[in-house]
Amino acid sequence: MLKLAVLVSGGGSNLQAIIDQIEQKKLPGVTIEVVISNVAGAYALERAKQHNIPAETVLKKDYVNRELFEEALLDRINHYQPDLIVLAGCLLILPERIVKQYHNRIINIHPSLIPAFCGSGYYGLKVHEAVLARGVKVTGATVHFVDEGTDTGPIILQKAVKVEDGDTAEILQRRVMEQAEWELLPEAVRLIAEKRVVLENNIVRIMN
Ligand code: GRF
Repeated sequence: MLKLAVLVSGGGSNLQAIIDQIEQKKLPGVTIEVVISNVAGAYALERAKQHNIPAETVLKKDYVNRELFEEALLDRINHYQPDLIVLAGCLLILPERIVKQYHNRIINIHPSLIPAFCGSGYYGLKVHEAVLARGVKVTGATVHFVDEGTDTGPIILQKAVKVEDGDTAEILQRRVMEQAEWELLPEAVRLIAEKRVVLENNIVRIMN
């Protein structure tokens, strides 16, 4: 069994990719215990509800300070006792206490080939805008473990996606989602469920 807590902030297309693969029996033993959003009304929450998955919001504005917000977020995650936390379109920089408690049990999908176009300020469409501005011919997506940094954890899977002439950031984002993100994230979950992801000196090896 691999119990997931999926953290979201937006549309939830990456969450949907995991839900779909579970429902298509392609992720045996994997369950989504909860979807937690730091943004009220995120469509990802609607997707969870449509599939009878517990959906919660933990909003910074509901707490008098960041410390209490972080404590509440950790408390809600712990309530479901996940084996793995999946950041799926989550725009929250995870509090250090969560990263420490779930060391090497948190993964994130980033819409570029890390270490390119990542780190502070590189999220959502901004990533693809920077890719187009630099004129690179190949971009892609990366699934990585989350450490104390931003997009700096050990890389698990990557997939390249061509940048086409005439691409806008929106067109490119959609292609990267369709051709890379929605494939890589469920694949990483499956590999972890099968205990085939090994970390040696901060380098990931996928066992056969
Ligand atoms: C995607 O570009 C994803 O790579 C990034 O957030 C964006 C929205 O993802 N992390 P989603 O549709 O909310 O899964």
